Amino acid sequence: MAPTIEKTKVGIVGGGPAGLMLSHLLSQQGIENIVIEKRDHETIANTHRAGILETGAVKMLTETGVDSRVKTHGYEHEGIDLRFGGVSHRINFKELIDATVWLYPQNEVFVDLAAARKRDGGDVRFSCEVTEVLDHLTDTPKIRYTDSEGGEHEIHCDVLVGTDGSQGICKWSIPQEKRTDNFIEYPFAWFGILTEAPPSAPELIYANSPHGFALISQRNEDVQRMYFQCDPEENVDEWDEERIWAELQRRVDGPDGFQLKRGPIFEKVVLKFRSYVCEPMRYGNMFLAGDAGHTVPPTGAKGLNLAFADVRVLFDALKAYFIDGNNEGLEGYSEKALKRVWKAQNFSFWMTQMLHTRKDANPFEAKRALGELNTVVSSKYGQAYLAESYTGWPHED
Ligand code: PHB
Repeated sequence: MAPTIEKTKVGIVGGGPAGLMLSHLLSQQGIENIVIEKRDHETIANTHRAGILETGAVKMLTETGVDSRVKTHGYEHEGIDLRFGGVSHRINFKELIDATVWLYPQNEVFVDLAAARKRDGGDVRFSCEVTEVLDHLTDTPKIRYTDSEGGEHEIHCDVLVGTDGSQGICKWSIPQEKRTDNFIEYPFAWFGILTEAPPSAPELIYANSPHGFALISQRNEDVQRMYFQCDPEENVDEWDEERIWAELQRRVDGPDGFQLKRGPIFEKVVLKFRSYVCEPMRYGNMFLAGDAGHTVPPTGAKGLNLAFADVRVLFDALKAYFIDGNNEGLEGYSEKALKRVWKAQNFSFWMTQMLHTRKDANPFEAKRALGELNTVVSSKYGQAYLAESYTGWPHED
């Protein structure tokens, strides 16, 4: 059977937070759009993802009518602890640069956005698999997809946006000779757990130890999220609760006697990561935003924040194009978005290499890393650099 054919202004491939936020903003301006998402709502809502939102991202949720629960169910954090040599050093964002971040997991952001799209009559099609994006260089780029019943469809749009994440098909649809894949791999991954326990600390602890990195994060009063550096090939089944707690504890041990609060562990995952940037973030009339165009290691907590920053720039460009007939924003989108992307890549890389340990490192490297950490925490300017990058550079108005 021939596919059904529909027309829209903006066709969005990927209904995660980036795609839904863009759709929400466009609809508010009366710019017609359709979102196609492979997974179902439940799967995305239940996939645990990182939890730190910059002020700019929080504003996008609270000031555009999303009705987000970020401020009622999230937690405002005024700083983080950098812990090394068994000693904690607080980086006080509020005091240093008068900024804060919010602990509010990405899957909750998704739930809020999906609810707002539903409330506003948005066209978001879950469980629909995009099989091809084509005709990028024409005035009518197209999305081909298959719905959950096997029906074939085609969407003809004026502009196509790829927000289909790091595994999505959009960026791979750019001919290889027209894009540069910049990436590096890391020789480690994160072992992540969710535990039913009270918080071990009021704010996040990023810990460096001779046994490797650990991150003590939270979800709420009853559930905590923690990670420890592991081998990318680590098998979660080889880790029982006792072994996990012992490993986490030895990475935060110190003369202050800090003890993690333990509880039953109900999720164990190994998260592999790498740093990646697709350049440019555009091919003809297709634009990439969020993880579809770049991925960062989780150490800087930048993933979703960077995606929202892309969306902000792309939305302004699309608004100027569809409402004022001005395509300068679209022409400049990739360059403008990439400026922030590379800053965030640098910050995420810096935090990652400073806090993790390498199996093959000689003693010089471990001691140099401690020198670096000491340089940061012993300088108001070092701390302020970290604070500025972590809480996020301002979005342009
Ligand atoms: C999380 O809470 O899942 C989290 C927080 C900060 C990070 C990464 C993950 O840098």
